[in-house]
Amino acid sequence: MAPSLKSTPEADGNSNKDGKSPDVNWEEMGFSLIPTDYMYVMKCAIGENFPQGSLIPYGNIELSPCSGILNYGQGLFEGLKAYRKEDGRILLFRPDQNALRMKSGAERLCMPSPTAEQFVDAVKQTVLANERWVPPFGKGSLYVRPLLMGSGGSLGLGPAPEYTFLVYASPVGSYHKRLKSLNLVVEEKHHRASHGGTGGIKTVANYSPVLNALTRAKAQGFCEVLFLDAATGKYIDEASACNVFSVKGNSIITPPIHGTILPGVTRKSVIEIAQTLGYQVEERPVALDELLDADEAFCTGTAVVVTSIGSVTHQGRRAEYKTQADTVCQKLRETLTGIQMGRLEDTMGWMVEV
Ligand code: COI
Repeated sequence: MAPSLKSTPEADGNSNKDGKSPDVNWEEMGFSLIPTDYMYVMKCAIGENFPQGSLIPYGNIELSPCSGILNYGQGLFEGLKAYRKEDGRILLFRPDQNALRMKSGAERLCMPSPTAEQFVDAVKQTVLANERWVPPFGKGSLYVRPLLMGSGGSLGLGPAPEYTFLVYASPVGSYHKRLKSLNLVVEEKHHRASHGGTGGIKTVANYSPVLNALTRAKAQGFCEVLFLDAATGKYIDEASACNVFSVKGNSIITPPIHGTILPGVTRKSVIEIAQTLGYQVEERPVALDELLDADEAFCTGTAVVVTSIGSVTHQGRRAEYKTQADTVCQKLRETLTGIQMGRLEDTMGWMVEV
């Protein structure tokens, strides 16, 4: 059964396509959806390649009740940002990396995926169509969300007969609005991922299982949860929405990509920046005790960018870290965002003009 996609008027709430400037207070944005004008959609049947897609008005989609995504979680998402430079041009940060990660996730979930060229082209088209929603220089970014899902219906367990690739966007500010540093609590009841599982891909199915721990953490005043490895419970994996780094002296340590950690694009970029700035970077298992004893700690991710961790609490013990001026985190963040916003020269060739 082929589902159809169509926009619905009620979902067009905030768009005013005739007006040039959207009604958004750029200073006050956090990380909540602000619906934009258009989304990009393309579909293909199993065993086929994605053809050319098209832009349609942003809105709700219609899905078969027995679609692969709704019944069996056959879906992936990506997140990347478009930034407005001071001269008004718009830059994307490493969209090819998101395309590659989606492709590897698609293989794991038995889905066809767009080629890297199709992915990047779809992202560019979405950004251009929603250009008026790209915040002014220095006021945030346009967060772009590509989705790949089994949209065709099948009652029995198996790959869906049809797939949809969809890209939508929303202007965003800071993920943890008004927080300069994050207070994490170590989760002791649940694990995020295990060896041989799907922790290393960006499947939608990795995210709802963390909500229970995140909700409990927030009720206790924490803003993020730190997950430990499922095998021993001694090493850190990652937080619910970002990768984690520990700093001791000149060394920056982060868990390796071995199937349970999401290969973050920001993670990878921060490692490269840190190396060029002269830090020693180690990708190896990080014992929780080592993190609790660190000088500094920080999180990385497209949404959180590079954000200091103020404290990690485990079984009543609260380790506090340096978060004020002159931190490693601050240097890495300044370099990364400088490149992303076009303030610093892009010597790595990461930025792609839309
Ligand atoms: C991102 O950082 O882009 C993510 O996908 C994390 C998400 C939970 C907001």
